[in-house]
Amino acid sequence: MKLAPSIYTADFARLGEQIQEAERAGADWFHLDVMDGAFVPNITFGAAICRAVRESTRLPCEAHLMVQAPERFFRDYKEAGMQRIIVHVEACPHLYSTIQQLRALELQVGVALNPLTPLSAVEEALPLIDLVLIMSVEPGFGGQPYIPSSTARIRRMRAMLDALGAHAELEVDGGINPATLGQVRDAGASIAVVGSAVFSNRHSVAEGFAALRAALA
Ligand code: DX5
Ligand code: ZN
Repeated sequence: MKLAPSIYTADFARLGEQIQEAERAGADWFHLDVMDGAFVPNITFGAAICRAVRESTRLPCEAHLMVQAPERFFRDYKEAGMQRIIVHVEACPHLYSTIQQLRALELQVGVALNPLTPLSAVEEALPLIDLVLIMSVEPGFGGQPYIPSSTARIRRMRAMLDALGAHAELEVDGGINPATLGQVRDAGASIAVVGSAVFSNRHSVAEGFAALRAALA
């Protein structure tokens, strides 16, 4: 089970330190939550912060673009050093072209679904992408509770991927903590985004990761 810390809930006054702590604690990817205040009711950061994170770690970074018309920004995130771009199916009416644009930039392709978007919305795209992201909270904020019906969605998506023989990773994002991580792993997720479970003023990053790894044991 890979863990991808989301820096959105990190202490931005010491972001470099937090990145190093997460890398030392065993993170596999960094997950960068880009929000435009239009697709979601919140604004976080853009390509400049993503570049700063990329330059502070040797781990690969994925940009989760919670933005309208994300194709406007693909080159910016490529130049910021992102290895994977995750777009929302709800923001991509021309998903086939969007995937082609990412391929042309030699970026790995992720497609995310909001909690109530039918899985069928991406079924035809699964053979063409590298990762499908099941949102287990409504996008826009960290620290939200896990939506329980997400576990069944993960299980159904796992079955869909297996039936198609698709190689895409299955990632889950939102409300993942020691109490929910085991069930999403058992339901078939291969990578989990973790935000407030690792970046919190209640415990160190190392303690956050240790609690997650213990939940997987
Ligand atoms: C929500 C973001 C998530 C969030 C995860 O819109 O996509 O990545 O930051 O934070 P937690 O793990 O605290 O739910
Ligand atoms: Zn995210």
